[in-house]
Amino acid sequence: MELELTSANEISETSKKYNLHSWSTQGALKPKVMIGGEGIYFWDGEGKRYYDMSSQLVNLNIGYGNKKVIKAIQQQAERLAFSGPSYAIDVRSQLAKMIVEMAPDNMGKVFFTLGGADANENAIKMAKMVTGRNKIFSRYRSYHGSTYGAANLTGEPRRYTCEPGIPGFVKFFDPYIYRAPINFENDEAATKYYIGQLREQIIYEGRQSVAAIFLETITGSNGVIIPPKGYLNGVRDLCDEFGILMVCDEVMTGWGRTGEWFAVNNYDVKPDIITFAKGVTCGYAPIGGAIVSKTIAAFFDDHFLSCGLTYSAHPLGCAAGIATIEFYKEAGIINQAKDRGVLLGEILEDIKRNHACVGDVRYIGLFSAIELVKNKESKKPLVEYGYDPERIMPKMIGMLGEKGFSTYAHENFLIIAPPLIITERELKDAMAIMDEVLIEVDKMIDR
Ligand SMILES: Cc1ncc(COP(=O)(O)O)c(C=O)c1O
Repeated sequence: MELELTSANEISETSKKYNLHSWSTQGALKPKVMIGGEGIYFWDGEGKRYYDMSSQLVNLNIGYGNKKVIKAIQQQAERLAFSGPSYAIDVRSQLAKMIVEMAPDNMGKVFFTLGGADANENAIKMAKMVTGRNKIFSRYRSYHGSTYGAANLTGEPRRYTCEPGIPGFVKFFDPYIYRAPINFENDEAATKYYIGQLREQIIYEGRQSVAAIFLETITGSNGVIIPPKGYLNGVRDLCDEFGILMVCDEVMTGWGRTGEWFAVNNYDVKPDIITFAKGVTCGYAPIGGAIVSKTIAAFFDDHFLSCGLTYSAHPLGCAAGIATIEFYKEAGIINQAKDRGVLLGEILEDIKRNHACVGDVRYIGLFSAIELVKNKESKKPLVEYGYDPERIMPKMIGMLGEKGFSTYAHENFLIIAPPLIITERELKDAMAIMDEVLIEVDKMIDR
């Protein structure tokens, strides 16, 4: 392969001219150039180093340059770069077995996709096939992917371009305690309220017509909303009561992000389907999928599975997945994420105490968000929902970037989700940068 673009400027200009970039108005863009990465760091076109404090899109859990995974992909490319999805091949069989064995013990088989959106697309289809029902419930503060079905599943503004939507997609409210209309006495009271509301909504929609309830086990880009105690078990009970499938989207929360292999392990709940992507290969090669229960797997023994993708269970993705999971195990990454998460939590609580612009911090493992407000008492968000005409949040990301701290913002949240391999020293040093920037933000808000 011969590369003709050499200078950072040329790469950026050519990208602006020929690439359509996601989720942006193209004219104002000046695409940042990335030339390489190692561990938790990456370098831009000018050679400036950044702490990658979002693990790119909360997927690069093992950081950059992992030799084991790179080698596995290289070896697989030489052995068999591609085989159609109907063939049984060693890496395909092995990865599915590994995943089923690590998932909750009610799980039986995996349908592989390329990423998270298509994992959810296929989970929707399977839920409809298995139940023979047509309605799909999901929450307002959710992101499930940008393809048409996954975008209809999504609750937040990235859904709007796909509307009027697919009939039968119903939204319900999240247990977002910080902004709840009621001052709940405790978690149990909140759970009782939200599960009660959901139960009523199921009945109003027609108890015989709901195929599945989709939820991010812990809401990710929409603010790391951690469910109150008993909430997920409450959803499980409702699903059992009405014959609805419970589908947990673990695209962001799976593979150690919350200090457990899957976020559901924090709650002792067993969904019918778990969708995953991101951390299973950490982006070294694309793969995602839907893990289905033994019951669903048995259903398709004598019912036609009407799902398929040319690149389902791509050999390079499977090889990367096996090597990534082996690395997580050998290096003790999952427990490490849990330990580092304790430190991150302490740092975030200090940040909340010390900054007028920080309304709330939420964290579990190395998955966290800082919620920014104009006023701590009134909780008025720093930017209104779905509306940031002055581009305040992108400016903040720019201020962090200037100091070598890379992450992304969504609505009035800053996401902090570093690679799970981060050391204590690196975590403290990076979060000191966040602290400095928040001092500047404190000066910008009304008190
Ligand atoms: C919870 C969740 N589900 C699904 C997706 C979509 O995954 P992908 O971008 O791989 O299609 C994402 C992506 O951020 C996500 O966070």
